[in-house]
Amino acid sequence: MIRYDEKSRVFTLETAHAAYQMSVDRYGYLKHQHFGDKLGGGCCEGLLDAGFMSFSPAPDVAGRDYTYSLDLTAQEYSVSGAGDYRSPCLAVNFADGGRNPDLAYASYRILDEKPALEGLPALHGECETLEITLRDRWTNLEVVLLYSVFAEYDAIARSAKIVNRTGAPITLDAALSVCLDMQENDFDLIHFWGRHAMERLVERTPVAHGKICIDSVRGASSHQHNPFVILCDRTATEDAGRCWGVSFLYSGNFAACCEGDQAGCCRVTMGINPTGFHWLLEDGESFQTPEAALVYSGEGLGALSRRYHKLYRRNLCRGEWARKQRPVLINNWEATYFDFDDDKLVSIAKTASELGVEMLVVDDGWFGNRFDDNRALGDWIVNTEKVRGGMKSLCDRVNALGMKLGLWFEPEMISEDSDLYRAHPDWCLHVPGRGVCRGRNQLVLDMSRKEVRDAVHDMMYEVLSSANFAYVKWDMNRHLTDVWTASLPADRQGELYHRFILGVYELLERLESEFPHILFEGCSGGGGRFDAGMLYYHPQIWCSDDTDAVERLEIQYGTSFGYPVSAVGSHVSACPNHQTGRTTPFHTRGVVAMSGTFGYELDLTKLTDREKEQVKEQVKQYHKLYSLINDGDYYRLLDMTRQQEVSAWEFAAEDGARAVLNVVYAHVRTNYIPPVLHLRGLTPDASYRVTDDSGNEVGTWTGAVLMHAGMRAPRPSDAPAGESDYAAFQFELERL
Ligand code: GLA
Repeated sequence: MIRYDEKSRVFTLETAHAAYQMSVDRYGYLKHQHFGDKLGGGCCEGLLDAGFMSFSPAPDVAGRDYTYSLDLTAQEYSVSGAGDYRSPCLAVNFADGGRNPDLAYASYRILDEKPALEGLPALHGECETLEITLRDRWTNLEVVLLYSVFAEYDAIARSAKIVNRTGAPITLDAALSVCLDMQENDFDLIHFWGRHAMERLVERTPVAHGKICIDSVRGASSHQHNPFVILCDRTATEDAGRCWGVSFLYSGNFAACCEGDQAGCCRVTMGINPTGFHWLLEDGESFQTPEAALVYSGEGLGALSRRYHKLYRRNLCRGEWARKQRPVLINNWEATYFDFDDDKLVSIAKTASELGVEMLVVDDGWFGNRFDDNRALGDWIVNTEKVRGGMKSLCDRVNALGMKLGLWFEPEMISEDSDLYRAHPDWCLHVPGRGVCRGRNQLVLDMSRKEVRDAVHDMMYEVLSSANFAYVKWDMNRHLTDVWTASLPADRQGELYHRFILGVYELLERLESEFPHILFEGCSGGGGRFDAGMLYYHPQIWCSDDTDAVERLEIQYGTSFGYPVSAVGSHVSACPNHQTGRTTPFHTRGVVAMSGTFGYELDLTKLTDREKEQVKEQVKQYHKLYSLINDGDYYRLLDMTRQQEVSAWEFAAEDGARAVLNVVYAHVRTNYIPPVLHLRGLTPDASYRVTDDSGNEVGTWTGAVLMHAGMRAPRPSDAPAGESDYAAFQFELERL
């Protein structure tokens, strides 16, 4: 619900458990007041003002009233150059060289829907939107702030539009999406760092004086940092404490900045990374920033995650596959790498179909002259030496086995040894007359150019319409360098990073609307572009190139803070594992991969009979648990940042009727007492029958006992013989 009180000039946005409040202050600035627990209909105007501090100047409109400074006032959209010295959202150069916009409140509108953000991913669905226009007192530059309220999830989607009404061109050096000013700073910042094959590791660090900057300048959101941060009370746990999530719906360069200031306040900003960004705005033009989703929880990190999970499942992912049951797939990458032909693929598909698997995904290597990773990216034409008879014939053979067919692409890339490069050597990102950086023997296509996108589109369209494809894996295996485009003059090259990702979004939008029945899975060397922007186009994303079940515990744990399990691509792979060399029980691999969009990535024809039986059981189990895993509430039961021996997590149906508890050991220790697990999401007074992995009843307890007293996790030695190293247990709970 959105309210505006004319008299006090206070805006209040109310959600199920939270209130967001801001006001137009005595000098006409839009001041942030509160985002947190509800205020009982009250208003905090005047209670939090900081007052005088030397070296914090008063703006012109305040004259010599030194009790007022933008430097000490909580902002909704911070601006550089006009007396607020903290991190800006907006940095602008006017035609006369001035850089000090003075943004005052101008007007507001309340809409009962969400305006579309053209060319950008955005939340959708039922919501109310508050639109506030700020205007520069000197030049008429306008900033239009959008706040869309998704009440059920305590979520506010924010973005800003900069409109040039100055009568002359201006340039933007920063145009971020959101500023969250807090009047305290006794907080921790949680962020998610990593590297290729080890993404989204949780780091929790106290907010200090100065800035913590979490960002990417790689042209993709990246493996190294994720465009999602959480600010929380130092004492916040899974079940208690105030937490604020800031999640960016964007897949290119981003910057999240958390700054503790001189006045004991804290500011978090999120938006397009100003490094490498410089945007020309002609008179009359506007620049729309991408959207950020703010979510509040006063009940700890677990509730914050569950709110994001629901919001993203229901109001971000789109299309048929957002809600439809995803097929269990077999991907041939770790089974064959580049060494396959149609018969090999069909033999894998045949075994897979006998075991209950529903779709074969043909990964890298089916096109052009692609016998290794030195060549052929950009030549999206089937290699008939490998796929004899072409895609239609392969698809018919796979379909005849009752299986669907999927295909891998890496549309944004080009190999120097490719027909596309020979025809258009100037289509890759490069600066004329200079060398290029190479990564995985490939260069990056200039996706800002329409003719480049059209050429890639036409090749992909041709392949995808040649057979009955059900799925596409959209990969991106290196980051951007040599960022220069022939389509812009020298002084506008700073627009390219953003135009690149807008081009990627445009191509995705085009192909996905042409092939609405195809399930698109995102990927970037595993989880290098696992962000809320991509989730708008792909309802699932390959979580990591690390398929080791034990390593995946930490990767999937970190991912769960901001993203739903229905988005997490996760497969059972061969052992010794190809990334770590580790051998884990087949059962453990199944339990871990099941907490995601389940599949296999190994040569099923090489499995033992016992393992084949296990595949059948796992697929059956996944189907049985599908709605619980994909629509249920997710609970992290142990803090992996504090201990790594054992991981435990639970899915509970929203109504508490069913739950499944997963326990997986990463280390076996001697003389070890397992921890007590407090289950969650159960009906306290009801009884639950608990059964183990083999379907044996373990006992019956009330929900209250299981939640408040808890149950001790099994010992590794409780696993079947030979499986105590990296043991996994899965308990089902049914309300009686
Ligand atoms: C990336 C992906 C892998 C696989 C390879 C193919 O690394 O993450 O899953 O598709 O590319 O080259």
